[in-house]
Amino acid sequence: MQWNADFYTQKHAFVFEYGAGLVEVLAPQPGELILDLGCGSGELTAEIARRGAAVVGLDASSDMLARARQQFPDLDFRLGDAASFELPERFDAVFSNATLHWVTAADAAIRQLHRHLRPGGRLVAELGGQGNVGQIVAAVLGQLHRRGYAQAAAHWWYFPSVGEYAARLERAGFRVRLAQHFDRETALTDPETGLTDWIEQFGQQFFVGVGASDRAAVLAAVNDELRPVLFRAGQWMADYKRLRIVAEKC
Ligand code: BEZ
Repeated sequence: MQWNADFYTQKHAFVFEYGAGLVEVLAPQPGELILDLGCGSGELTAEIARRGAAVVGLDASSDMLARARQQFPDLDFRLGDAASFELPERFDAVFSNATLHWVTAADAAIRQLHRHLRPGGRLVAELGGQGNVGQIVAAVLGQLHRRGYAQAAAHWWYFPSVGEYAARLERAGFRVRLAQHFDRETALTDPETGLTDWIEQFGQQFFVGVGASDRAAVLAAVNDELRPVLFRAGQWMADYKRLRIVAEKC
């Protein structure tokens, strides 16, 4: 997955804008040390710092980290993968918005989160839950299949149910204090190209091995197919289903 920081911050700022609500759940306190896992371009890391906590932003994309460092030069950003990162600190809380659904090695990531928390430390996370963007995925796969491409499910995302994710957390030594699976239709930024922008940013892997003209035809057909269901009041809406988690290291 290639992240384009310009395209992301221009077209998909809603990712961190919606994340502001999760910072409220985190409720960072002055004096706390917090890890922002999957910090992207750093906006929520900065919001956590603004509330007086010390914060480390971690991301697997050097392009996104370059943008984060450019925007917030006083903050501490580091490169690392959720499933394998090693930091010397032990944190009061780990915060993660819209990242863990990219980590298919879910148990490895959960193990790392647990290891990097101090005893009693909290995990506050939001990720795509079961059924997330189901209509978009079905339309893209359907249009690819019609043209003879054999892509199976979108295996690069992990959208778990509450039961599945809570069980993984408990097995790793977390006490799950809150687990919520809710619909949050998400308005895409551009009224014309919003759906195509979203698929091009986040669904690049649908098109591995697909030629440019078929790719354009699939995108056009998906727009036509989904317009009656996901285009409302002049805006494209993505059918997001979120999983929100608050858990504590036992
Ligand atoms: C999400 O935030 O749910 C999401 C974002 C990009 C790709 C898939 C899901």
